[in-house]
Amino acid sequence: MNSRYNAAVCTELTGPSSIRIIEQDAVPLQTGEVRIKVHAAGLNFPDLLMTQGKYQFRPDPPFIPGLEASGEVIEVAADVDSVKPGDRVMAGGKGGALAEQWIVNAAAVSPLPPALSFSEGACWQTGASTAWHALVERGHLQAGESVFILGASGGVGMAAVKMAKHIGAMVIGTGSSEAKREAIREAGADHLLDPADESLATKVKALTDGKGVDVVYDPVGGDLALTATRAIAWNGRYLIVGFASGEIPSFPANHALIKTYSLIGVRAGESPRRDPELAVRQAAALSDLAAHGAMRPHIFHRFPLTDTAKALAVLEKREAIGRIVVEMATSS
Ligand SMILES: NC(=O)c1ccc[n+]([C@@H]2O[C@H](COP(=O)([O-])OP(=O)(O)OC[C@H]3O[C@@H](n4cnc5c(N)ncnc54)[C@H](OP(=O)(O)O)[C@@H]3O)[C@@H](O)[C@H]2O)c1
Repeated sequence: MNSRYNAAVCTELTGPSSIRIIEQDAVPLQTGEVRIKVHAAGLNFPDLLMTQGKYQFRPDPPFIPGLEASGEVIEVAADVDSVKPGDRVMAGGKGGALAEQWIVNAAAVSPLPPALSFSEGACWQTGASTAWHALVERGHLQAGESVFILGASGGVGMAAVKMAKHIGAMVIGTGSSEAKREAIREAGADHLLDPADESLATKVKALTDGKGVDVVYDPVGGDLALTATRAIAWNGRYLIVGFASGEIPSFPANHALIKTYSLIGVRAGESPRRDPELAVRQAAALSDLAAHGAMRPHIFHRFPLTDTAKALAVLEKREAIGRIVVEMATSS
């Protein structure tokens, strides 16, 4: 194990340009911890928000962003027997993944599925768990139903397209450029629409024979959210996943009453932490999906650790398609 390693450090809350590559001293493990030699770290929208001081979890600088990574276990605390040095793993946490080494709790570590490369594994957990938790656990999406996925070319959006097709639903997705719409098509969506299209709700209704969609999956928020409620079916389920637009929509309660749709909050990370039975159910479902290569992440952007600021800027400029991965020199 190297006693010193490089990390991408957020030095002030001014966004991606504040990232500096700074050498760190390896610290001793505490009870229950695992040290991973990181091969790849997957970027998520909250990483960008954290560098701007806009995420619900607000660490003070300097801090190392990064919520998920894959790599090889190089050391475990004396009380850890769930993994051992040499194991190929994926891990999640509240930060620290954008580094050549990462210390995480053993409970947050799972085996890298043989079907996934290190880079795919680094991008698996957040997208897949959000899509599964939202569509299956919260939205009860069924085969033959329709789902309208906003921000469908993004990280959690594209995982949802794949999950919905795996379930057997009809998928309508939004993408703000031709390249994004093409990527959504490749991911399996049946119909593609531009979120800026003024007749968006009308078009969604036409695609569902005037009925409207059974489920809306919304990681975007803003005006698009209110447009999507106009395209929802009687008794529909509206899944509130996130606010990538930066605007939190206010839903008119009378509209939900008149159309009898449900507004459903989604917290894919927190819910299983509060419900041990759900945690077991979710882990088993995701393990099975990963083993079958379902929801394999689409990686469109790869950067070395030294270009972490550029990688985060892709998210900031709304240019990301699928997943962005930061690969360490040892990645495969
Ligand atoms: N609830 C949960 O459990 C949970 C879990 C994970 C993530 N999230 C949330 O989900 C949201 C999306 O995360 P993500 O990692 O998928 O992000 P992402 O990869 O950047 O995708 C977000 C998508 O939103 C659309 N968008 C619309 N306005 C935008 C703007 N002003 N800036 C950036 N994108 C904009 C973009 O698609 P178009 O350009 O095609 O419109 C983009 O592809 C975030 O708010 C995140 O915090 C929630």
